[in-house]
Amino acid sequence: MADNTVTLTDNRTDRSYELPIEHDTITAMNLRQIKVNDDDFGMMAYDPGYKNTASVKSTITYIDGDKGILEYRGYPIEQLAEQSTFLEVAYLLLYGELPTADELTKWEERILHHTYIHESLTQLISTFRYDAHPMSILISSLAAMRSFHPESINYEDEAVLTKQIYRLLGKLPTVAAFAYRHRIGRPVNYPDATRGYTGNFLYMLDYMGEQGYEVNPVLAHALDVLFILHADHEQNASTSVMRAIGSTGVDPYSAMAGAAAALFGPAHGGANEAVVRMLNEIGSTEHIPQFIERVKSREVRLMGFGHRVYKNYDPRARIIKQIADQVFEVTGTNPLLDIALELEQIALNDEYFIERKLYPNVDFYSGIIYKSMGFPVDMFPVLFALPRAAGWLSQWMEHINDKEQAIARPRQIFLGERERDYVPIDER
Ligand code: CMC
Repeated sequence: MADNTVTLTDNRTDRSYELPIEHDTITAMNLRQIKVNDDDFGMMAYDPGYKNTASVKSTITYIDGDKGILEYRGYPIEQLAEQSTFLEVAYLLLYGELPTADELTKWEERILHHTYIHESLTQLISTFRYDAHPMSILISSLAAMRSFHPESINYEDEAVLTKQIYRLLGKLPTVAAFAYRHRIGRPVNYPDATRGYTGNFLYMLDYMGEQGYEVNPVLAHALDVLFILHADHEQNASTSVMRAIGSTGVDPYSAMAGAAAALFGPAHGGANEAVVRMLNEIGSTEHIPQFIERVKSREVRLMGFGHRVYKNYDPRARIIKQIADQVFEVTGTNPLLDIALELEQIALNDEYFIERKLYPNVDFYSGIIYKSMGFPVDMFPVLFALPRAAGWLSQWMEHINDKEQAIARPRQIFLGERERDYVPIDER
C-alpha cells in the first residue's frame, strides 16, 4: 500500500477505499466512489463555512494561525511593514516578485496616472443621499465601473488585464474620497499624483483650499503601513467571493463589487467599525468587567477579538499597536485607547478567552488609529477595502489562470420535502 494514501472503510458495506493524499489533503471528488448502491450519488464532504475545505491551490499568502505567522509571497509581514510600501507590496502580490527600481517607478507612475474617474461616475456618486454609507457608494461604483470600461470583459488579453489593474488600484481611492466629500457636503478634490498613493488619498479627503497645504508625512506613512497589513489575507470571505464571482468569467469590477459587499459585513471588514462602537458603549475602564461578563454569557461578542485562522496574537495587530504610537504623537492620544488596552489585558488573562484562543485581531486597534486620524467610523471598512483590492486582484488573477478551477458551484444536502402535489389556494 502506498505511503501517501489514506484508507477509509465504509462500515455500511465493509468496503475499503484507498485515497491518495497530496499536500495533506484528499480530493473531495475521490469520496464520490463511496456508495452503498451503484445508483447512489456517492459520498460528499459537509463543511458549512468551509472551515476545513481547501478550494484552491495558491502561492500568494501564507498564514500559520497557531504560530501567528503571515507572509506575502514568502516575505514576512513584519519586514514588509517596516521596509516596503503599499504599491510595492501590491506589485509583489500580483506578480510574485519584488519589482526592480525601474519596474517600481513605472508601476507607481501607471497607477497614479489612472486616479481620475469619469465625470459621470462623479455625478453618480453625487446622487447618493447625503448620509449614504461610503461602503454602499464604493460597492455601487465598482459595479458601475464595468459600464465605463466594457472592454474589461476581454481580460484574457494581457494588455487589457493590466490596464484594469492600474485602473482599479488608481481609481478606488478617488471613489472613496469622493464618497467622503459627498458625505460632508464639500466639493471633491481632483487627484494630485505628485503626493504619492496614500498622500494623494489623504489630500483628496482633506484639502480645503489652505495655502501651502501639505499632508502630514507621518500620517501618510501610517496609512501606507496599514494598507500593507490589509493587502491580502488568503482565502477569507471577501476573497472567496472574488474568486467565486470571477469563476463565472465576469469582469474584475463586477467581481470586486461582490467582494467589497462581503467585506462590508460586521464579522469581516466591518469589525473595526464595530470595535469603536463597542469601546464607546463601554465608555470607561470601570465598566470593562461588567462588559466582559456580558461577553462570557454570550450576550455580545468582544469585537476585534478572535479569528477563524489565528489562534494566537494576530501579527498585524502587533504592528498596528506600534503604528498607533506614531499616529498619537501627531494627533494626541485617544481616550478609547485606554479602554482598549485594559480590555485586552483583562481578556488575555481570562479563562474564557484563553480556552478559546481568542486574541486581538487586526481590527482591534486599527479603528482607534483611524478615529484619531479624523476618519468617521463608516469610512473604516472603506479603508480596509482600498488595500484589499490588491489582494482581491491577485487572487482573482491566480484563479482565472488556474486550469484546475471550474465555476464555483457547491453541493447541498437536500433535507426538504419531495414530490408534493400542488394544492389550490382555496383548499389550503
Ligand atoms: N467574543 C466572544 N466569544 C467569541 C468571539 C468573540 N469575539 N469570537 C469567538 N468566540 C467564541 C465563540 O462563541 C465560540 O465559543 P463556543 O465554542 O463556546 O461556542 C468560540 O469562541 C469559537 O468561535 P467561532 O465562532 O467558532 O469562531 P469562528 O472562527 O467561526 O469566528 C470570527 C471567527 C472572527 C467571526 C469571530 O471570532 C468573531 O465574531 N469575532 C468578532 C468579530 C471580529 O473581530 N471580526 C474581525 C475578524 S479579523 C478581520 C478579517 O481578517 O477579516
